[in-house]
Amino acid sequence: MAFTVAIDGPAAAGKGTVSRAVAAHFGFAHLDTGLLYRAVGQRMLEGTDPVEAALTLRAEDLDREGLRADPVAQAASKVAAIPEVRAALLDFQRAFARRAGGAVLDGRDIGTVICPEAEAKLFVTASAETRARRRFDELTGKGEAADFDRVLSDVRTRDARDMGRPDAPLKPARDAVEIDTSEMSISQAVAAAIAVIEDRIKERNDHENG
Ligand code: DC
Repeated sequence: MAFTVAIDGPAAAGKGTVSRAVAAHFGFAHLDTGLLYRAVGQRMLEGTDPVEAALTLRAEDLDREGLRADPVAQAASKVAAIPEVRAALLDFQRAFARRAGGAVLDGRDIGTVICPEAEAKLFVTASAETRARRRFDELTGKGEAADFDRVLSDVRTRDARDMGRPDAPLKPARDAVEIDTSEMSISQAVAAAIAVIEDRIKERNDHENG
């Protein structure tokens, strides 16, 4: 039986961590849809036309090195504003969302465009400063040089582009439950997400049992 969990929100709010934990908890499949746009962005940086890259995307493209790097994130946010790129990635995401056994998809437009019928919708967010601090700590933790103000301005640039585009902008679905992780630990954020999903599963079961 299909059960879709849509998890949207801005960069570095904790969506990925929450999504993986929720998928493991409920035994659902997980798709990080940002990776699709990152793979297209990476191919654009290598000289391929982004629409062509989206139309010919292969599973191997999602395993390539460098997809998490910041230049690829900015390229992903740029190609994500091209309607033909989004259209090319739509069917794959919709089929994944409705697969049997349950699915968690995280991204920007899952609850609004990809799967408006999702049984559970979460909007995971945090202040820009908190998100930049997490990203900065992650980079310096890996021994990479990073400048906090630069990381913060990258976060704000990507937010503005993702929220400001006309096609499928980042915004909470009307029926999404917002989880602001600014003052939460990872385990608190995961517990909050699990509680919402358990409620939705119960509602669905109650409805089906008449
Ligand atoms: O979640 P992420 O940081 O990996 O996403 C990279 C970029 O891809 C993000 O800045 C906007 C775009 N994106 C999107 O437009 N729609 C999605 N469902 C997922 C990501």
